[in-house]
Amino acid sequence: MALCATLGALRRDAVGQRRAVTTASLVLFRGGDAPIRVGRPAPNTGHGASEDCAACHREIAREWAASLHKHAWTDEVFQRAYEIEPMAFCRNCHAPLATNGRTPRGLAAVEGVSCSACHVRDGVVLSSGAGRGDAAGTIAPHPVRADARFGRSEYCAGCHQFNFPAERTPGGPLFDTHMPMQDTFGEWQRSAHAARGTQCQDCHMPWRTAADGTRYRSHAFVGGRDPSLLARSSRVEVTAIAVGDDRVSVSVRVTPTDVGHAFPTGDLFRRLELSVWLDDDASRKRIVAFARSFADQFERRPDGTTGFVRRQVSDSRVQPPGTGAPRESRLVLAFERGRAPRVVRWKFEHLLMPSPQAASQGFGAAQYRATISEGQAAIAPITAAISVNTP
Ligand code: HEC
Ligand code: HEC
Ligand code: HEC
Ligand code: HEC
Ligand code: HEC
Repeated sequence: MALCATLGALRRDAVGQRRAVTTASLVLFRGGDAPIRVGRPAPNTGHGASEDCAACHREIAREWAASLHKHAWTDEVFQRAYEIEPMAFCRNCHAPLATNGRTPRGLAAVEGVSCSACHVRDGVVLSSGAGRGDAAGTIAPHPVRADARFGRSEYCAGCHQFNFPAERTPGGPLFDTHMPMQDTFGEWQRSAHAARGTQCQDCHMPWRTAADGTRYRSHAFVGGRDPSLLARSSRVEVTAIAVGDDRVSVSVRVTPTDVGHAFPTGDLFRRLELSVWLDDDASRKRIVAFARSFADQFERRPDGTTGFVRRQVSDSRVQPPGTGAPRESRLVLAFERGRAPRVVRWKFEHLLMPSPQAASQGFGAAQYRATISEGQAAIAPITAAISVNTP
């Protein structure tokens, strides 16, 4: 009895930490706690399937169909992870319309985060009202309710901000956790973009012009797999100085530029690697990693009970713009005396997950690694370095 009460309290506690995004009368998103309840479809939108919307909203539907929102359930990277942790918690975000409590099937699986999951509640189409969309005609055949929150970051937080689940294995022990599993909204809130009023939508839903000249917001929702978005994220500076006659000291500095949160953000396994090597000797490269790491610690909780608490052990990512100094590291690379290298080469990469994990899940380099930028730096002789430092 007492045990049940404690577990119940814990569960409520962990659940209470997530953010439910609400309009005046509706809860839009329930994070990992429950599936989304769309209610009845809006009049004149068929069954409310995305292909029903596509009949009129062609451009938006085409972009969405190629997005990870559509593939949130079918996406291979998700599926491999879900095989290891097949929990309702995961289904509630990655196939949020699946309400049968089992493996999602049919539209719920195929459409993932669908038009209706984001826009429709109880027969009404919700939207910010800022854009008119890509449909021909000026009068929507379906009811529309404007809610300014659609245009703000808080909207995305309903799914892009959440803590580790209390339950790790179905029916297993409950873990106390107040640690964000994804902290993208929190990172944005701490950034200079929030202070300036730049929302997630401003960067991730840029304005587009359809063939007939109407303007709408992109629904492609590109992220860390998009080379041009990655290129906007940061600036890398590498400098090198010879130290003695057998070593080179290399300084790397990564400054966030047009990114709205930490870099990388999102899924807990995301990672950046900056590799550095001398001349063509890539076999002896050194790597600076940018990632978060976690550990479960057995602790006394604030309420006096003891149990496992998930803690973030380190965070070496590039922090959001405006929150601190750029990320800097220094490495020393050795070479054979008498074979002085000419240049230091570097390569900056985005990884969906660490290499050993990718290998164990059967992903080749092209499936989980993308080059952000690469270059080379001249090696300054040590005398030059001294003269730089002498007034
Ligand atoms: C029969 C055609 C048709 C179908 C089907 C349809 N729409 Fe629309 N929709 C329109 C038209 C026309 C407008 C108004 C465009 C304008 O104002 O120029 C519109 C407007 C909208 C808006 C913008 C409302 C605003 O002013 O802020 C949203 C959001 C929207 N639709 C979503 C959807 C979704 C989601 C579906 C599927 C569940 C859907 N529509 C199905 C024709 C359609
Ligand atoms: C992940 C959530 C999400 C999904 C999925 C989604 N939308 Fe949207 N949509 C939004 C948001 C947020 C806005 C409002 C952006 C703003 O006004 O700042 C919006 C705006 C719109 C608009 C009106 C504004 C404009 O000019 O673009 C239309 C029309 C629309 N969506 C249709 C659709 C259709 C059709 C689908 C499915 C093919 C769809 N949306 C899928 C979140 C979503
Ligand atoms: C209903 C839940 C939900 C909402 C609301 C939502 N997202 Fe997502 N989003 C997801 C899920 C789940 C994924 C991951 C899909 C996958 O890769 O398996 C995702 C993926 C993405 C990606 C792609 C990431 C990548 O790895 O390339 C971007 C970008 C993104 N969302 C931005 C947004 C923005 C901006 C908003 C607000 C306008 C938003 N999302 C609202 C659930 C949501
Ligand atoms: C100033 C522009 C900007 C703003 C604002 C912004 N982002 Fe991003 N976002 C980026 C860039 C650039 C990237 C690519 C670099 C990266 O992966 O972090 C990105 C990547 C992402 C990814 C993919 C992460 C990955 O590695 O797969 C997600 C998810 C995402 N953003 C969600 C959001 C959400 C949610 C918000 C609002 C809380 C937001 N973004 C605000 C620019 C922005
Ligand atoms: C509250 C919503 C939510 C819950 C619950 C959730 N996810 Fe996600 N997941 C997301 C969002 C949002 C993203 C996109 C972030 C990004 O791309 O970095 C994502 C991305 C991922 C990715 C990366 C997919 C890719 O294409 O690279 C994997 C893998 C993943 N989730 C697995 C899981 C598993 C397994 C669970 C259950 C243990 C789970 N997720 C629970 C929202 C959620």
